[in-house]
Amino acid sequence: MKKIFVTRKLLKENEEKLKELFDVKLNPDDKIYSAAEIIEGSKNFDGILSSVTDPINSETISKLSSSIKIIANGAVGFGNINIKAAREKGITVTNTPDVLTDATADIQILLLLGASRKAYEGRIAAETQSWKWSWDFLLGKQMSNKRLGILGMGRIGRAVAKRAKAFGMEIHYHNRSKLSSDLEDGAIYHKTIKDLFEQSEFLSLNCPATPETTKIVNKETLSYLKKNTVIGNAARGDIVDDDAMVEAIKNGTVFAYGLDVYNGEPKIHPEYLKLKNIFLLPHLGSATKRTRWDMAYRATKNLQDFFSGKKPQDQVN
Ligand code: GLV
Repeated sequence: MKKIFVTRKLLKENEEKLKELFDVKLNPDDKIYSAAEIIEGSKNFDGILSSVTDPINSETISKLSSSIKIIANGAVGFGNINIKAAREKGITVTNTPDVLTDATADIQILLLLGASRKAYEGRIAAETQSWKWSWDFLLGKQMSNKRLGILGMGRIGRAVAKRAKAFGMEIHYHNRSKLSSDLEDGAIYHKTIKDLFEQSEFLSLNCPATPETTKIVNKETLSYLKKNTVIGNAARGDIVDDDAMVEAIKNGTVFAYGLDVYNGEPKIHPEYLKLKNIFLLPHLGSATKRTRWDMAYRATKNLQDFFSGKKPQDQVN
């Protein structure tokens, strides 16, 4: 039986399944391992089932045991792994696309709504009993008849588009390349980020974290926005320059920002905690039981395929 090092505690059913197929080392206390602990713990193992919290950068990879042949990341994003360094060392990396698309798109809508309709301020007013109904109390921005700009029109971006259309929004997007009209489904393509940002009244960040997208939302790109734009980020903290975002919120470019992901999670930029027009969630994008089961089963299937000599369907490097 192949030996698999599982970095985080999974749902019970997923751990049972893994135990049937592999000789596994689990993490019952769900400790978040440092790079050194991953390197030490996975010595003499054949593969790793990793999670978004694992820092598997090039240095970690260079020190991994040469017995490791695959890292099956239990996430669609794989910004936590240096896939190029892995390839160079002959390590296959896989992710878990598709299965978390709906859950994450739902959370993105929640972020856009939570931010635009002042859910955080509303909650505080309600729980402190410091409110009364009045004509101008906590007025938000309505999604209907607005232009939604989607940065990154992959699976999740398109699932956000589908939902946003039901809210009566007009969909615009920017992507590395224009999609087929089938996939576009009526959305309007913008060749540049500048074009997209200039048109957007709401903005949905859905691009993966890669070296090219690091801080793609920055002082300059934020300056392309109109006043009072609502932004939601269910993708990755790395794609946003937080200081520039805070400034854009303070100067009125951004009406409200909803976010589920952070630079250096679980830390949160201290200014985000002070501003009222921020709607925060603690990385809940894929957090439903159904989705978490499916993600871990999919990672398991990638391991199974790999060790039975097949190319795993979700290989990313
Ligand atoms: C979650 O953040 C994922 O990338 O799956």
